[in-house]
Amino acid sequence: MHDPELEKIPHHLAIIMDGNGRWARRRGMPRIMGHRQGVKAVRETVTACRELGIKVLTLYAFSKENWNRPKDEVSALMDLLYDYLERELNEMLKNGIRLMAIGEIECLPQKVQDKLAAVMKSTSSNQDMILNLALSYGGRAEIAFAVRKIAQMCMEGKIKPEDIDEDLVAKNLYTAELPDPDLIIRTSGEMRLSNFLLFQAAYSELYITNTLWPDFDKQELIKALQDYGRRERRFGRIGESFAKACTAIVS
Ligand code: IPE
Ligand code: IPE
Ligand code: MG
Repeated sequence: MHDPELEKIPHHLAIIMDGNGRWARRRGMPRIMGHRQGVKAVRETVTACRELGIKVLTLYAFSKENWNRPKDEVSALMDLLYDYLERELNEMLKNGIRLMAIGEIECLPQKVQDKLAAVMKSTSSNQDMILNLALSYGGRAEIAFAVRKIAQMCMEGKIKPEDIDEDLVAKNLYTAELPDPDLIIRTSGEMRLSNFLLFQAAYSELYITNTLWPDFDKQELIKALQDYGRRERRFGRIGESFAKACTAIVS
């Protein structure tokens, strides 16, 4: 099926996967059941993104602030993450998916850190899509991390304060190797970034759906991508059609 609205696929898609707790509550289930169902949505989304030709998919899986949730919920989430990594390695290898992670990875349980490191190593030469997990991630913490590194370079005399520009900041973020997200999807209707990719989201398109994360699927993804395909990104300039009209008048 040829869909002209799907011709403009974002290079980097980032998703704030929200609404697992509400999904469970609506069914009278404990929150963890929502998280479990959420993992299924992750699997379906990763496969769909790979099929649709998205090159980088960042999933906000656990924020720095999420450590403040009840201990039982946090440990259940860590167990789910571990199981996901263990179960998905073969699928990643089969589909050319490279795993990366951003955030305060050193705060994760040692067992999860080891598993992450192993999967990242095994998939490091895969080239079809990057699956980047934001774990123990906070946008402000990331900016502070970059500032610390840059201050250190100044102290060591490697750079001067006047050498610090937007590019240098970007190169010292956790996402140094990745392009900025073109599109950020948030599920479950909340109209906020919740400390996600604050620096990188400067010109990202935003798409918010009321669908709860466990109900998110390929159809929902395609709807978001079609919406993205209809948008005009301006980056502060004037619209393309207007610019063309101006050129026609001048020449
Ligand atoms: C998203 O779902 C999963 C994580 C933040 C880990 P929530 O657990 O935030 O679900 P709601 O927002 O309570 O419905
Ligand atoms: C954002 O969701 C974090 C993740 C999706 C991992 P939250 O549920 O933690 O965000 P708030 O608390 O509603 O802002
Ligand atoms: Mg939430």
